[in-house]
Amino acid sequence: MERKILFPKVDGFVHGGDYNPDQWLDRPDILAKDIELFKEAHINCVTLGVFSWASYELHEGQFTFKWLTDIMDNLYENGIYTILATPTGARPAWLDKKYEECRRVDSFGRREYHKERHNYCMSSEVFREKAAIIDTKLAEAVKGHPGLILWHISNELGGYCYCDKCTNKFHKWLEKKYTTIDNLNHEWWTTFWAKKFESFDQIDPPYENGEVAIKGLLIDWKRFQTENATDFMVHEINTVKKITPGIPFTTNMMMYFGDYDYRVLAKELDVISWDGYPRFHNDYESLFDTMASEGFTHATMRSLIKGKPFMLMESTPSLPNWHLINKLKKPGVHNLVSLQAVATGSDTVQYFQLRKSRGSAEQFHGAVIDHNGTNETRVYKEVKQLGANLLELKDVIGSLVDAKVAILYDWDNRWALDTTEAFVKLDKKYEETLYDFYNELTKLGVDVDIISRDYDFSDYKVIYTPMTLIVTSELAEKLKKFVSEGGTVVSTYMMGYTNENQLAHLGGFPGEGLTEVFGILNEEIDTLWPTQSNHLVFEDGSTVEIKDYCEIVHLKTAKALATYTEDFYKGCPVITVNNYGKGKAYYFAARFKNRDVEDLHKQILEEAEVSYKNLPLDVECHTRVGESTFEFYLNDSNEEKVVEEVYGTNLLNKQTVNGKLLLSGYEVAVIKK
Ligand code: GAL
Repeated sequence: MERKILFPKVDGFVHGGDYNPDQWLDRPDILAKDIELFKEAHINCVTLGVFSWASYELHEGQFTFKWLTDIMDNLYENGIYTILATPTGARPAWLDKKYEECRRVDSFGRREYHKERHNYCMSSEVFREKAAIIDTKLAEAVKGHPGLILWHISNELGGYCYCDKCTNKFHKWLEKKYTTIDNLNHEWWTTFWAKKFESFDQIDPPYENGEVAIKGLLIDWKRFQTENATDFMVHEINTVKKITPGIPFTTNMMMYFGDYDYRVLAKELDVISWDGYPRFHNDYESLFDTMASEGFTHATMRSLIKGKPFMLMESTPSLPNWHLINKLKKPGVHNLVSLQAVATGSDTVQYFQLRKSRGSAEQFHGAVIDHNGTNETRVYKEVKQLGANLLELKDVIGSLVDAKVAILYDWDNRWALDTTEAFVKLDKKYEETLYDFYNELTKLGVDVDIISRDYDFSDYKVIYTPMTLIVTSELAEKLKKFVSEGGTVVSTYMMGYTNENQLAHLGGFPGEGLTEVFGILNEEIDTLWPTQSNHLVFEDGSTVEIKDYCEIVHLKTAKALATYTEDFYKGCPVITVNNYGKGKAYYFAARFKNRDVEDLHKQILEEAEVSYKNLPLDVECHTRVGESTFEFYLNDSNEEKVVEEVYGTNLLNKQTVNGKLLLSGYEVAVIKK
């Protein structure tokens, strides 16, 4: 496959992270030491200025960028490139004090005080203007700088503002979408509970102490907020792009983030980047499970812009500070988790942050350089070792993951599941369910893309569609075509209950004609209390525990592979398969752990001609393809593992592997075929 190089100027993987030197402008000794330590740890890129607005413009209209350009010059002379942020993530006090509209109004309708960060109103014209001014001045100051390789737009865009400006924009957005209030009333089903509106301006945003009963309102608010945030981001992109054409841009995203539909933002970006902070070594799951959830997000990010590597923009070299319990990564795990990002398609490993803040926020958050300021710490040494390992992997840069299997994950489907009262009211465990499918496929060494209904399905052989409550007519048509042309779809309970505005499909679930594809008709869904369970039994008599959900489905043309063992629906089908055109449609009518039906997953993959691996417990394998094929084997445990049938050269120790690959605890091998 053709390699896609993100940063041609950089010789190697981008290795670095957030660097906030404006804290240390009165300590030239520290700034000089930083550069020395960066070089020693093979750090070749820093992210500057993420929260530097007040260091550029302490007084309104008075700008200084000299400290920045001096630092960029110095870094560049030392072989270190710069990713530069637009500084809108945190605002100077003068701005919020003088222009109150820049501050958000919260979900109870209260204007916030000047505080913290990320909480600006994206509809405020004043804020947009002030952002454009600082971004313009900044871009002019660094224009043509040879060290600048990427714009980092703001920081972790997120959250909602409920002010009048946002509300007015929402009304216009609704009017554009529905044209008439009658259409809106129909799609939001407002006749029920006397919710009918006479005009768009009667609609409040979904305040926490306001209207939360109308599903269409809740989901449209999130769609509107997504578009408003995207529009703000594009406003910043356009501002810097005019001055520094040719410099690509990104914005840093977050793990399983629910405020905005990232696929909408992704359409406007050159490259995808995200910040990964898993809960390592917790007391509720294995490290493999933690890594698999992290892998799910890597795959989601990679799939946002297919055909390009993504960037791991932030990670902690040791511990975060904002989890409820902040645990250190054990020795060796930094290398493991960083190379997992690379294995799944990242061409960067970056941290928050390079030197620890002395005071105020994030004072004890992990950093490459600790308060003691030396190269003697365990964390520094592990970062340095990782930097050396990345140098051995240069051939991997620009190669891609070529997944033949995908999991469907639509943001609005998640929103719909979150706001649907029935079944389990609060947490229907969509996230857990997605991870469970991804986890099982990771156990089998199968790379998976995470896609939405807009993607081209013909890239895949098998598509899993867990808990796909929203099925639009377009999605139904695509699934029909995909299966009839030979694809395999594996779906679960809650498939196709509603349309995109959360109106229930009439005439039987799964709606939009998918009953034909699956060859079943779903009549009811039973929800179990946490201590209750049911079981399924396969034809060979083996049984598997069922939790949470049991749908009662009737066979039309499908065949039952397993049936319930208990309750009044004992004997009804749980797992079904239907031949449709040249393909197959599987249906899991109940929730069970995918690892308990591993043989079935293997069978599904074999039938679809997708190869899988027999890996030891707790070992992951991901494959990147460029001029060569690179297999990454990751030992997510602290025990020695032996992987069979591995052939090639391990780039990390230069040894030839001829069949048996031995991995020590947390070891990673990168096998060039
Ligand atoms: C990120 C954020 C960084 C820093 C980091 C700490 O979410 O973008 O600025 O706060 O968390 O983990």
